Amino acid sequence: MAALYSILLALILATLLVTTRVEARAFFVFGDSLVDSGNNNYLATTARADAPPYGIDYPSRTATGRFSNGYNIPDLISQSIGASESPLPYLSPELNGPRLLVGANFASAGVGILNDTGIQFVNIIRIGQQLQYFQQYQQRVSALIGVEETQRLINQALVLITLGGNDFVNNYYLVPFSARSRQFALPDYVRYLISEYQKILVRLYELGARRVIVTGTGPLGCVPAELAMRSRNGECSVELQQAAGLFNPQLTDMLLGINSQVGADVFVAANTQLTHYDFISNPQAFGFVTSKVACCGQGPYNGLGLCTRLSNLCPNRDIYAFWDPFHPSERANRYIVQQIVTGTTEYMNPMNLSTILALDSRT
Ligand SMILES: *[C@@H]1O[C@H](CO)[C@@H](O)[C@H](O)[C@H]1NC(C)=O
Ligand SMILES: *[C@@H]1O[C@H](CO)[C@@H](O)[C@H](O)[C@H]1NC(C)=O
Repeated sequence: MAALYSILLALILATLLVTTRVEARAFFVFGDSLVDSGNNNYLATTARADAPPYGIDYPSRTATGRFSNGYNIPDLISQSIGASESPLPYLSPELNGPRLLVGANFASAGVGILNDTGIQFVNIIRIGQQLQYFQQYQQRVSALIGVEETQRLINQALVLITLGGNDFVNNYYLVPFSARSRQFALPDYVRYLISEYQKILVRLYELGARRVIVTGTGPLGCVPAELAMRSRNGECSVELQQAAGLFNPQLTDMLLGINSQVGADVFVAANTQLTHYDFISNPQAFGFVTSKVACCGQGPYNGLGLCTRLSNLCPNRDIYAFWDPFHPSERANRYIVQQIVTGTTEYMNPMNLSTILALDSRT
């Protein structure tokens, strides 16, 4: 009896969905803590943001798993493309029925391009698994709206992927003489990362993604955590800056290379290094009192350990560029997303999000 009811309910739902056309474009998110909206809440891992003061400025004033005091980058992109809501974490039990059509967030804090990145966090959704979940998602949506309509939804969707920072911070530079740093000189490691990242992005293309924003890493050496651990006088860590300086331009070249192979502007490089650099080099111009000290943390620059209830907490989060030792505040995220939406080609190569939206609305 219960089974019959659920079959009937599914049929009614499916009919409703087919008749209410898929309006706003779907949005899919892959990557690490900069874009995780709560998947790690459902996993046995230490890489999590599900306790206060995380979320202190989020509309619900609760910790959701976002590594921010308020909105994160995917939230602000969702808002700027006019989506009704941010895509839910893929592991959320609430991601069902019509809500699947909004998209899904597969990101998991701690992951990198490489499988051995973030091993200390144990149970995280590595990028290969994120892509497998994307396939599973497509099967679930096909059961709702059919294969053809699902394909269309995927092809017309916007995709955001953020990877790479952890391959340096939580792998190559995690400990002195790490396995990867003994295996590779930095320039060779970067080339290896780029070639592995290319395979991931080609797979994403094969799975139907046609508009993919790929962020580079920020200035890794300038985050409060690195200032606390590696800097003597508040200057950015030379090695990590070198790593970001090698990685980001090669990432852009690789993306433009795939575009010319597939003959379309599928991948867009977001120069988050430059965006961060803007407010790091002149915080006052952006309304920040500092870009060196995290709002939430302890030790020098509030850069040591985790952001918890016991940490120092700044009273006004809007005047800090960094919320915790690694992650930008909502205010800084707003500037990052503003550049994604309207930045010049120096920030968004080959085009910004408003150009993408304008182009796609014509077809
Ligand atoms: C990472 O792990 C996945 C799944 O086990 C595997 O398919 C993939 O080849 C691995 N990647 C690398 C670079 O070893
Ligand atoms: C987006 O990029 C285009 C092309 O580079 C540029 O002309 C435009 O000013 C940018 N901003 C907006 C809002 O379109």
